[in-house]
Amino acid sequence: MRLRGRKNIRESLEQQPDLVVLEPQQWKGRWHEFFGNDHPIHIELGMGKGQFISRMSGNNPQINYIGMDIYDELLRRGSEKARAVWRENGQDRVPNLALVRGNVEYLESMFEPGELSRIYLNFSDPWPKSKHARRRLTHPRFLMKYKEALDAYGEIHFKTDSLTLFEFSLNSLAQTGLQMRNISLHLHREGIRDDLVMTEYETKFVGQGMPIYRLEAVIGDKALAEYRAEVARELEDQARRGGAKEPAPE
Ligand SMILES: C[S@@+](CC[C@H](N)C(=O)[O-])C[C@H]1O[C@@H](n2cnc3c(N)ncnc32)[C@H](O)[C@@H]1O
Repeated sequence: MRLRGRKNIRESLEQQPDLVVLEPQQWKGRWHEFFGNDHPIHIELGMGKGQFISRMSGNNPQINYIGMDIYDELLRRGSEKARAVWRENGQDRVPNLALVRGNVEYLESMFEPGELSRIYLNFSDPWPKSKHARRRLTHPRFLMKYKEALDAYGEIHFKTDSLTLFEFSLNSLAQTGLQMRNISLHLHREGIRDDLVMTEYETKFVGQGMPIYRLEAVIGDKALAEYRAEVARELEDQARRGGAKEPAPE
């Protein structure tokens, strides 16, 4: 039977302290204690009903995941989804996921600098009116928070159906001096990318034939150094194969 009403939803969440975190500030600087290991932590900001983060947690047990949203009802749906995914894996317990009630505005109250390794922004609210631009989760003021929270291997992975938000985000990332890679203006152009887990919104938009825009931003020093070395190697390979010689990035 589906629980109805705020009180029932809250009670259901309170009964799941192994999975649902209603006061995330209490774990600031101690998330590895919550998970019981030192695995890297990847977070989805604005997880919605939790399809993406639940599947990611089931597929990658060596990563710790956090799904954050502001609504209790979405946490409840996320908890059902996550438990269903792990039951498919033959486990009643969800070992590597925390569903957190929190607002991205207060990210620094929940995480110490360098406590996260990857941030997923999937179909963030586009806030199309320019007077609301500061609310977009890729506004430079948010990017600065993400930079602070991410570790030396930190990355942001962003996808959206909104061309306006994507355009805004490209400028915002460039203004903040962040390195972008794997930019796509039509992620599933050649068929569904089954190496990437889809979100609820993505499934819906792809079903309607809409293009999905995607990029990754490389943030941490070590991630950046590795990326630059990879690009330099590719350029050397191209040059060896007789392609145009281009200078390697600094
Ligand atoms: C359009 S939905 C996308 C949901 C999911 N990521 C997907 O792709 O299916 C955006 C979600 O972000 C959440 N959200 C919006 N602003 C937020 C904020 N400041 N902090 C946390 N969550 C937020 C909303 O509640 C909503 O669930």
